Amino acid sequence: MPSVVALVVAAGRGERLSSERPKQYLPLGERMLLAHSLRRFTEHPGIDHVQVVIDPSDSALYEKAVQGFDLLPFVAGGETRQGSVRAGLEALTHFHPDIVLIHDAARPFVSSNLIDRVLDGLAHTAGCIPVVPITDTLKRLSARQEVTSGPDRNGLSAAQTPQGFRFASILNAHRTCGNDSLTDDAAVAETAGLPVAAVAGDPYNFKITSRDDMTRAEAMILPPMETR
Ligand code: CTP
Ligand code: MG
Repeated sequence: MPSVVALVVAAGRGERLSSERPKQYLPLGERMLLAHSLRRFTEHPGIDHVQVVIDPSDSALYEKAVQGFDLLPFVAGGETRQGSVRAGLEALTHFHPDIVLIHDAARPFVSSNLIDRVLDGLAHTAGCIPVVPITDTLKRLSARQEVTSGPDRNGLSAAQTPQGFRFASILNAHRTCGNDSLTDDAAVAETAGLPVAAVAGDPYNFKITSRDDMTRAEAMILPPMETR
């Protein structure tokens, strides 16, 4: 069995949601949002360890959020998502797992089936990411919100997390990547020429970005998660 670590990035500030605290620490049902995102990984039989990357100024909230979870000690994040992932990967070098699953803390509805699909996909490739089809027509807007043109949605999909990689390959890609503002790890992998396969994502695994997303997440929590 390959050794697998889940790396959950939770060091963002949630500026687009603009709540009184970063979105990963907002209450969602009986726990904070972060606890939901972590649970599927800590409960998954194929995952050996879970490592969370946070902003150390949130450490009091973090300790409250993760009560009862068995986690590696947290790692301090960076200015960008990519910087936070890099910090998490560097902290894992002493473990040197075979596989790392990199997940956004802001996706609380990741399912264990989705984790299975990503892990299964990694049997044949260095990288594997979940994607969902784009069904709306895409438009590019000018600074004045005028519709200009739109890329053809054919052949386009939206990338989700967890994104799975062979640990040594993605660590090397992060170390050699010149750009520090890529918004997912598949884009980092691409800069190093790593092959990345796609598996079916899950529409429920949306990322909480705006206030509306939070409202939707709260509605989804109303029935206990176990009965969904
Ligand atoms: N993230 C991180 N470190 C950063 C920026 C983002 O660990 N410097 C994490 C976030 O905590 C989140 C994930 O990356 O779980 C996806 O980022 P995003 O949805 O953009 O979250 P925020 O950066 O917190 O939100 P915003 O961009 O609205 O400020
Ligand atoms: Mg962000």
